[in-house]
Amino acid sequence: SEPILLDQHARPLRDLRISVTDRCNFRCTYCMPRSVFGKDFQFLPRSELLTHEEIERAAKVFVSLGVEKIRITGGEPLLRKDVDMLASRLVALTTTEGRPVDISLTTNGALLARKAQSLAQAGVKRLNVSLDAIDNAVFQRMTDADWTVDDVLQGIEVARSAGIAPIKINMVVKRGVNDDQVLPMAKYFRGTGHILRFIEFMDVGNTNQWNRSAVYPSSELIALLHRYFPLEPVSPSAKGEVAKRWRYVDGQGEIGVISSVTQPFCGDCTRARLASNGRLYLCLFGQQSVDLRALLRESDDDDALREKVASVWIQRTDRYSEARGFSPVTYSPRVEMSHIGG
Ligand code: GTP
Ligand code: 5AD
Ligand code: SF4
Ligand code: SF4
Repeated sequence: SEPILLDQHARPLRDLRISVTDRCNFRCTYCMPRSVFGKDFQFLPRSELLTHEEIERAAKVFVSLGVEKIRITGGEPLLRKDVDMLASRLVALTTTEGRPVDISLTTNGALLARKAQSLAQAGVKRLNVSLDAIDNAVFQRMTDADWTVDDVLQGIEVARSAGIAPIKINMVVKRGVNDDQVLPMAKYFRGTGHILRFIEFMDVGNTNQWNRSAVYPSSELIALLHRYFPLEPVSPSAKGEVAKRWRYVDGQGEIGVISSVTQPFCGDCTRARLASNGRLYLCLFGQQSVDLRALLRESDDDDALREKVASVWIQRTDRYSEARGFSPVTYSPRVEMSHIGG
């Protein structure tokens, strides 16, 4: 079999996150604040987005280099025209070892009630849905849009009845903003079979006003939950997984914590990111990127593309979250979350 591609910290390339649009129907204050992403904000014109064909070609090249998991992201990926058709193209890919590539999608859930059925039909087996509060007032304060918690819950329900499982619920916890939602969210999702994951607020992008006092450390969160619902750790399901898993001792299911601020996981980072404009980023906090769109558009030569991606991966040294400690390094500009989808 092919030799495994390793970077400068001996990390293999295993995951690809593909952002299919830079637009979103929410304006989360920590991601796309309206003051920056307002009425006059210039999103990418269609011609600058990768086409479905270009995304599929790029994905094949990554898969030939060892990628086993592909996640479709945004912005909000369900805003991309015919995203289910794109998903079915990706579902058809097989790894170098002949297994199906694991295809998933991270969505805010607003359009899920409308799209879950066709995603399931396209072969999408699992989904991650962002939801920062179960109280609608808190939710709308954070998302700054007209969609409601019920819209998202309905989407989750339609996805569940379409057979999509597991569904992971992503909650970014900001101290003083939605930390009062931790227990209500846990109560709501216990026993549903969905996996609630609490995410530490990260210093991604340039516009989210990150400060360390808004970070709610996972250790504190687990201690809080444990007082109400005793928890025990679960061993990791896969190397390089970002979430640490826990289960309710009473059998009511599993939760996770993603602690990239207090317990960074760069040592196992196997992820590359393809932005909606076709630029390849590695680290979420990256400043450097490579224009794959130009390569895709200037020739049909997949080998040239493969060599480019391989050489970028082999040279990779970044381990931002481990390197920065607890204070953000202030070099800028960084790529926006809405461009690379987390
Ligand atoms: P699974 O395959 O279900 O484990 O997906 P995931 O957790 O990798 O993806 P998801 O889109 O649900 O992301 C959850 C959170 O993890 C988001 O806040 C992401 O920004 C964050 N995340 C994902 N990958 C990385 C990473 O490489 N580094 C850091 N620091 N955060 C990441
Ligand atoms: N810190 C942590 N998570 C974030 N996300 C968006 N911005 C941040 C941030 N600053 C989350 C979204 C979504 C996932 C892709 O990333 O809520 O669940
Ligand atoms: Fe949209 Fe997700 Fe960003 Fe919120 S966090 S603005 S839902 S892309
Ligand atoms: Fe990987 Fe960068 Fe995240 Fe570290 S901070 S896990 S290197 S993407």
